[in-house]
Amino acid sequence: MSENVSSLLYIVAGVLFIMALRGLSHPTTSRQGNLYGMIGMGLAILTTLVGHPPAGFGAWILVLLGLGIGGGAGAVIAKRVPMTAMPQLVAAFHSLVGLAAVFVAAGALYAPQAFGIIENGHFHKQSLFEMGLGVAIGAITFTGSVIAFAKLDGRMSGKPIMLPQRHLINALLAAGLVLLIALFIGTESKAIFWLIVLASLVLGGLIIIPIGGADMPVVVSMLNSYSGWAAAGIGFTLGNLALIITGSLVGSSGAILSYIMCHAMNRSFISVILGGFGGDTAVAGSGQVETRPVKQGSADDAAYIMKNAERVIIVPGYGMAVAQAQHSLREMGDMLKKEGVDVKYAIHPVAGRMPGHMNVLLAEANVPYDEVFELEDINGEFPQADVAFVIGANDVTNPAAKTDKTSPIYGMPILDVERAKTVLFIKRGMGSGYAGVENEVFFRDNTMMLFGDAKKVVDTILKSL
Ligand code: TAP
Repeated sequence: MSENVSSLLYIVAGVLFIMALRGLSHPTTSRQGNLYGMIGMGLAILTTLVGHPPAGFGAWILVLLGLGIGGGAGAVIAKRVPMTAMPQLVAAFHSLVGLAAVFVAAGALYAPQAFGIIENGHFHKQSLFEMGLGVAIGAITFTGSVIAFAKLDGRMSGKPIMLPQRHLINALLAAGLVLLIALFIGTESKAIFWLIVLASLVLGGLIIIPIGGADMPVVVSMLNSYSGWAAAGIGFTLGNLALIITGSLVGSSGAILSYIMCHAMNRSFISVILGGFGGDTAVAGSGQVETRPVKQGSADDAAYIMKNAERVIIVPGYGMAVAQAQHSLREMGDMLKKEGVDVKYAIHPVAGRMPGHMNVLLAEANVPYDEVFELEDINGEFPQADVAFVIGANDVTNPAAKTDKTSPIYGMPILDVERAKTVLFIKRGMGSGYAGVENEVFFRDNTMMLFGDAKKVVDTILKSL
């Protein structure tokens, strides 16, 4: 296959990736988006295999084994992973992209002829730069993602760990890295290459360790962006157009997503990267026990109140995902609509544990899209609502974000559920949410707590209805 044809096919694959991203931006088109992505990836792999066929039988076997094992493992993991564990899975996958960037750069360093990056015994300066930068970003992504995985998976505390002098150490390491890359370009030394790897591995860990659980979604998206840039870097080393396009798409979309999430949490990107959101109180998961009295109700009470309401706004959160209550919830919504109640769903941009988490679950349960509203479109409607039905959400409804400057979630826009006539709160106990802070709404006069597993409570409400 000529270079022109393979370049053309790579561009077609790139266009398919862009169509995939476009499709994934809305639940109605997301399956189609996925399909475009799969076709694009298949085309890119085929073009690479035909354009640059593996040299010999053994190499073919290696490539096919890689495709089989990697593709097989990916398929099994994707089938088995629960939706709630998706963020840590994404973090784990990013770590592999980072590691791949390190291996490819090492491969190029040790077998430069195969990559066409050496002339008269000397590497092209540009290739040395790409290798140095690519391997640094790859190694930072690798350890950063491993730590993000461990934090999100509960294998490591979600608390921000404040290392002494961390900003100074990180700045020194970053400056050292720049120096090492310059030295590498000048000397072509393999030892310096491995020093770059080592310094980057340490830097990746040090950057992520101090970041608290509540900032992890932004971190995962940021690592996603890094992994994209690392892939684009390898693309330059390999002279592979598809990799450059894909890497840049992942890099820029990850950066845009990080920005959008920071905006949704009212956090500056820099303060997220510098770490520490959530302060010392942040815990990944529930934990606090509160002794003040709250008003408690039963499923029958909830059914009665909602049946007699005119407007009900449902606010789903992480607990709904854990309980897999979305199908029962949709049935409840349908039943209320039959009773003449106006039912809407309010989605906070960081409700749950990954971007779009609630949208995906509600779509899976066939909740009509025109009943699902984003924060800015529905927040003004809470004062007119008779009931705010909060199911497994907590942080995203916490008014401390508006009033308490000392709160770790201060500044995050929240859903104003407390402005509804009645707030029904479904959760198992008095546990706090992801950011580990107490929610004053539990103790308000217009709040009724419905304790229990979200699905079981909704099923009981359904029976009462
Ligand atoms: P959270 O604030 O985490 O609150 C979830 C609540 O659900 C908990 O208080 C818990 O209380 C309850 N719960 C857990 N299992 C339940 C079950 N089976 N049945 C009923 N209730 C259950 O959730 P949220 O309001 O959705 O806010 C999301 C938080 O996660 C934010 O702080 C956000 O920054 C962070 N975060 C978001 C993302 C993204 S991108 N969405 C990713 C990572 C982290 P009990 O223990 O008392 O039941």
